Amino acid sequence: MSYQKIVIIDFGGQYNQLIARRVRECGVYCEVVPFKKISAAELEKERPAGIIFTGGPNSVYLETSPHIEPKVFELGIPILGICYGAQLMAHTLGGRVATAPTSEYGKTDTEFSENALMFKGLPEKAVTWMSHTDYIAEVPEGFEITAHTPVCPVAAMENSERKLYATQFHPEVNHTENGTDMIKRFLTEACGCVCDWTMGSYAETAIKQIREKVGSKRVLLALSGGVDSSVLAALLAKAVGNRLTAIFVDHGFMRKNEGDEVEAAFKNWDINFVRVNAADRFLEKLRGVSDPETKRKRIGEEFINVFEDEAKKIGKVDFLAQGTIYPDIIESGAGDAAVIKSHHNVGGLPDHVDFEEIIEPLRLLFKDEVRALGTTLGLPENIVWRPPFPGPGLAIRILGEITEDKLDILREADFIFRDELEKSGGARGINQYFAVLTNMRSVGVMGDGRTYDYTVALRAVTTSDFMTADFAKIPYEVLERAASRIVGEVRSVNRVVYDITTKPPATIEWE
Ligand code: XMP
Repeated sequence: MSYQKIVIIDFGGQYNQLIARRVRECGVYCEVVPFKKISAAELEKERPAGIIFTGGPNSVYLETSPHIEPKVFELGIPILGICYGAQLMAHTLGGRVATAPTSEYGKTDTEFSENALMFKGLPEKAVTWMSHTDYIAEVPEGFEITAHTPVCPVAAMENSERKLYATQFHPEVNHTENGTDMIKRFLTEACGCVCDWTMGSYAETAIKQIREKVGSKRVLLALSGGVDSSVLAALLAKAVGNRLTAIFVDHGFMRKNEGDEVEAAFKNWDINFVRVNAADRFLEKLRGVSDPETKRKRIGEEFINVFEDEAKKIGKVDFLAQGTIYPDIIESGAGDAAVIKSHHNVGGLPDHVDFEEIIEPLRLLFKDEVRALGTTLGLPENIVWRPPFPGPGLAIRILGEITEDKLDILREADFIFRDELEKSGGARGINQYFAVLTNMRSVGVMGDGRTYDYTVALRAVTTSDFMTADFAKIPYEVLERAASRIVGEVRSVNRVVYDITTKPPATIEWE
């Protein structure tokens, strides 16, 4: 393994995580660092194979905008500037950046120079994704224009002698045709990357780094059984073995068999695995509560209480490990966005656990990379491919007050729906599917008698980002089988409905 690394310097653009993703898809390891946290001296010392400047919302010619020390351009390290990063390169090196007479936004026809390093061998005309109001009006000395659009004279530029490259468009966005190939050409032709980075090598490096950091000290982890915390547990187990204590708080709101599956996956490892069966405590806290936000808050609080009680038994630990992944950092830093639902598991930290430092070894990974890491580390499929499940679990899929009885009903109904969908082969391509126990009762007839029982709602959605979602077009036969089994096998349910709303205006979960 060559251990080459690309440093992506983040200027606050909206597609920054995509850049990292593309670089890793090309088989090159990369890290994203905020522009404030990296200096020319550090880059000189570290000497990454290449540097990428991201886009950003500012205008480079304003004093208050993010800048970079000019010395960075003198280090001889190849640099690719994208959008704001391109303008920053032009501005810093003596070119001129100004407000464009016409802004460009969206798919744009672009023409490329056939000899430019990033575009060689690719079609000379293609669509790129643009999103800018400023533009490079004049390139700095020594630069050549390598692409243009009808309204943007400098859609790309390069100075091959100094190994400096820039694109006004976003090669990382899918809408840019051949975008990944362009990035790959920068990585291989300019930076000399050999593209041999894999999840196996990531695991190796991460394990080594954790060992160096933790030494002979102790690590504590809250294990939820979800993909992220499970993969983290596996990684830490390989790195520090029984100096890891993983506390699995079973709040009693897991799906059928799930608590036992988590226990089965970790119990035989050489770590201190602690399962706390805290269902009674949680039910007690939720007695009489039917407001969704109150439920969420109480579950979040109780989770921390239970975790702290357990952690106190262990005494002082040195490190608290968190399963934060890259999208969590981006989403929870979103700023002024309205709170639709207070998510439990991002940012909730125990106050009374005695630890010195937080470690977040997955913080640079995307979800699919976390799953790949889990597989590399030998976690079972049912954990690695577990569909997203909200921290508060079934508690937010039971409308109204939660009781043990309702939990039993929902667990069975949910299991049957998932079972039927999975057996039909239709679950692939559906991103989340589950049952909800509504608070509604209605009249039915069973045998010769009248019933007055609950309605179960089935929900299945397709989505790429969980911010918007469509309802899944499940075949009627599958819905029919699920419905007839649910009313036949689960007591107290006499009606099943299928939720056909999109998000927005509905949300994926019902609470
Ligand atoms: P909504 O219902 O807001 O859900 O459309 C979007 C996605 O987020 C999941 N979700 C949660 N995940 N803790 C989590 O870890 C939570 O409190 C939580 N609430 C919702 C939901 O399952 C869906 O995937």
